[in-house]
Amino acid sequence: MIVVSDTAALEQPLTALRHRAGRIAFVPTMGNLHDGHLALVRQARAAGDAVVVSIFVNPMQFAAHEDLDTYPRTLDDDLSALREAGVDLVLTPDKEGIYPDGSAQHTAIHVPVLGDALCGKDRPGHFDGVCTVVYKLFQLVGPDIAVFGEKDLQQLLIIKKMVADLSLPIDIQSGPTQRSEDGLALSSRNQYLSASERALAPLLWHTLQSCGMALTETPEGPSASIIDPAREALEHAGFTVDYLELREMSTLQLVDNMDQDCALFVAARLGNTRLIDNIQLTASR
Ligand code: PAJ
Repeated sequence: MIVVSDTAALEQPLTALRHRAGRIAFVPTMGNLHDGHLALVRQARAAGDAVVVSIFVNPMQFAAHEDLDTYPRTLDDDLSALREAGVDLVLTPDKEGIYPDGSAQHTAIHVPVLGDALCGKDRPGHFDGVCTVVYKLFQLVGPDIAVFGEKDLQQLLIIKKMVADLSLPIDIQSGPTQRSEDGLALSSRNQYLSASERALAPLLWHTLQSCGMALTETPEGPSASIIDPAREALEHAGFTVDYLELREMSTLQLVDNMDQDCALFVAARLGNTRLIDNIQLTASR
């Protein structure tokens, strides 16, 4: 496994890899890898001939008050896990390699509408930072395939839209959310939770499942009669709910019934930790 931190030194090993192996499948990450990331790596292995992973905690997608400085960085463990998973090349750029003049001075990519809802509303500028870094990583790596997790469903939809709008010749694939046994979606941020918060956290997934079942059983709506009490129950249990919303799958328009394929999205805070999750729901036709 080759590890490259200097973005200027990437071209030669990538060209060699492309000649030797063929199609490159790419998994961008911020490191602190868990089974969710590694499942995407396995999927990339199966989809392409060579696998490239990037590890970069992207300052442009964090607001000033967010956890950029404390975001867990575990590079040695990450590299061992990626070596074991059979990854061919890991890119570990520093922020100067990605943003030579600083991220505030950098050209940004904005995906309107999809990028303005849900987390885009609560975290202004977040998805501009995500799109900008992913676009740059795509330019550096030149992948044929890139794999993203359904855990961050809004991010996945935004990346697909960016790739379509900018005519990037990359096949965007997605992998299902990996969870702990109790249902909590794996996330690097779960380690911020106290023991009591961690015990409460699976309620998010249980709420999505029970609402999802009720919504598909009463597809004519109104969805508010199911979602509003669920939001109140989460608040009552100790969550601060940023959103619990039913949205149409491709446009992310708010909907009040299950006429079309939808996803129920949640973002909720326990103490200082913000958790997100979602469940995809198929319209009953
Ligand atoms: P990060 O949070 O490290 O996630 C990297 C990839 O792993 C994303 O595609 C994310 O959706 C996926 N992932 C995270 N948890 C998962 C889980 N439990 N199951 C399945 N997949 C999971 O997302 C980012 O980094 C950044 O925004 C990035 C795209 C790298 C741009 O900086």
